[in-house]
Amino acid sequence: MSDKLIIFDTTLRDGEQSPGASMTRDEKVRIAKALERMRVDVIEAGFPAASQGDFEGVQAVARVIRDSVVCGLARALDKDIDRAGEALRDAARSRIHTFIATSPIHMQLKLRMSPDQVIEHAVKAVRRARQYTDNVEFSPEDAGRSEEDFLCRILEAVIDAGARTLNIPDTVGYSLPDQFGTTIRRLRERIPNADKAIFSVHCHNDLGLAVANSLSAVLNGARQVECTINGLGERAGNAALEEVVMAVKTRQDVFPCQVTIDTREIVPCSKLVSNITGFPVQPNKAIVGANAFAHESGIHQDGVLKHRETYEIMRAEDVGWSANRMVLGKHSGRNAFKTRMQELGIEFGMEAELNEAFSRFKDLADKKHQIFDEDLQALITDAAGTSEEEGGVHLVSLKACSETGEVPSSRVTVRIDQEELTGEATGGGVVDASLKAIESVVNTQAQLLLYSVNNITTGTDAQGEVTVRLEKGGRIVNGQGADTDIVIASAKAYINAVNKLRVPRQRMHPQVAGDV
Ligand code: KIV
Ligand code: ZN
Repeated sequence: MSDKLIIFDTTLRDGEQSPGASMTRDEKVRIAKALERMRVDVIEAGFPAASQGDFEGVQAVARVIRDSVVCGLARALDKDIDRAGEALRDAARSRIHTFIATSPIHMQLKLRMSPDQVIEHAVKAVRRARQYTDNVEFSPEDAGRSEEDFLCRILEAVIDAGARTLNIPDTVGYSLPDQFGTTIRRLRERIPNADKAIFSVHCHNDLGLAVANSLSAVLNGARQVECTINGLGERAGNAALEEVVMAVKTRQDVFPCQVTIDTREIVPCSKLVSNITGFPVQPNKAIVGANAFAHESGIHQDGVLKHRETYEIMRAEDVGWSANRMVLGKHSGRNAFKTRMQELGIEFGMEAELNEAFSRFKDLADKKHQIFDEDLQALITDAAGTSEEEGGVHLVSLKACSETGEVPSSRVTVRIDQEELTGEATGGGVVDASLKAIESVVNTQAQLLLYSVNNITTGTDAQGEVTVRLEKGGRIVNGQGADTDIVIASAKAYINAVNKLRVPRQRMHPQVAGDV
């Protein structure tokens, strides 16, 4: 059996299914480039049949990624597979991932199909996908609650039809590590043609066991793990890439396989995904949380100072924590700025875009002397979708007053479709007052689900990165804003969310039955 563990990242597909985490085409390309720098083996770029926007997102990733395999998801339907095949046409290396549910509850209540019909659809889908690429993956959705005998039947049939990766999803996060590992071992033992395929796993985190289940599967012969950066994903998320990778690397005494990930790219990529999606990383999150390598207690600090390995099993710099390098400053020129942006995977289509970004960089460098990669990423995310030509709401000016003993107040002017409007409000604090002032003119009547502030780098002159999550009519959007002044960052984040709500979006979820 191969000693290589394939890392399949689905941040751009399953991660994006998290409410509010949807990404634009350009954001997907930025994350895909970061994943490629990390040497992720397979990047699942999206579900092309979901909408024209999703199709274009997968197509754009397929056109720029050269080293990693680019994968598109498709239900076991001709039209989905054709859409995926088309979106991946320009990829250097492509994969189609097709799936159909196999648990009794999903077959009866969602698909309304007999087990034989499900096998027929699966085989037909794999054969059709093989017309586009030799690299076809099949998943029996809800395998964690499917009958083992049925899994053996369908998996044997899809291998015969040409599937070369068999992905076993614990779709609802129901499995336990021992049991899930045993399932993988038994499937490999019982399926007669199992040696023609690589077994993969895809675990959800509803019981907090996604990484444990994935690792147990690896110990039982799985050689691909599907995971996401920061564990982003539906509901409680997917297995976290950084945890799977570092567990396998750190415990080489236990795991009979290796990963080929450049682990120094983990923290920068985690920050990028958090910045783009607006899903903050909890401070105590393993590997990528701000406290993951911080030693608070005196006893621990003493031990670490005497000998690092007393309390540290990994080195912070090996996962990219020291990457907080000052890259540019007040005196950096346009060329240095452009070159660093290119290294971060950010290209400017037109000269005017570069000039506009450079001018915003100069404004930031006036306020903040040291500019880090994270500042540059935030500068781009902050500007995304806010250019004047795209219409929408734009912040023109903000004046907020905070004084002991007085009620905080704010006066905000915004431009909406070329018309300037001013709103004034008081509030519990200047942030509250500013968001109320904006709402008084934009009148979304959306519900504020989340407001959070993070420092992008360290120091009191650091940019604050604000995430605002709004809900309206069942639709959830995240808005981000960054500035050295957190009141302005908050206003930008609110306006960014409002702009997203103003763009109607119709997309299909891959796991609804549709017309399967
Ligand atoms: O969780 C799941 O079952 C999935 C499939 C589409 C593979 O995401
Ligand atoms: Zn999933």
